[in-house]
Amino acid sequence: MDLAEAIKGRRSIRKYKPDSVPGETMRMLVEAVRWAPSWANTQCWEVVVVKDPKVKAELATALPKTNPALSSLTDAPVVLVLCGKKGISGFYKGQTATTKGDWLMFDTGIAIQNLCLTAYSLGLGTVVVGMFDHKKVEVILGVPQNVEVVAMTPLGYPAAEGGTPRRKEPSEFIFYEKYGGKE
Ligand SMILES: Cc1cc2nc3c(=O)[nH]c(=O)nc-3n(C[C@H](O)[C@H](O)[C@H](O)COP(=O)(O)O)c2cc1C
Repeated sequence: MDLAEAIKGRRSIRKYKPDSVPGETMRMLVEAVRWAPSWANTQCWEVVVVKDPKVKAELATALPKTNPALSSLTDAPVVLVLCGKKGISGFYKGQTATTKGDWLMFDTGIAIQNLCLTAYSLGLGTVVVGMFDHKKVEVILGVPQNVEVVAMTPLGYPAAEGGTPRRKEPSEFIFYEKYGGKE
């Protein structure tokens, strides 16, 4: 699939078939994460692959009932939990190198987008889930103190297409020469 087509065509999928994901597909998704760019190539990401229905159901308890992705965590055959090792990305000799602090959110964000686009190109659905009780998920998965859970995504074959939320027009977010500058 053409990259531009993947970027434009990928949608958040919240309804899944129960069919399992082949091992070769899982390996391709791991490669997509593996080759993401990161701060000084620090690669702070870690991914927990959850297939056990009991653990998926536990993860779902960390989402507020209002989260539209709630049922997808138990319906999809796999849930991928993206974690970041703290104190590595954005650091130089143990000190933060910028005013932004830890860049783990940024690096894990790139990694999950690589994953979501690759999944889409292989006919699989994903939806980045960020609104949940992160501490609860860290306890459920036994995540150590030096690592934080950032986001999760269900993974599986779509049972329904996602809608296409409106995007801003380029003129609303592209500026020229100075902030706010028009072409
Ligand atoms: C950081 C982040 C957190 C998100 N959290 C949730 C979430 O908790 N629940 C959910 O249903 N969708 C979540 N989404 C999906 C967005 O709602 C979705 O990407 C957006 O509406 C655009 O739709 P599209 O992905 O189909 O283009 C999240 C997306 C991102 C990037």
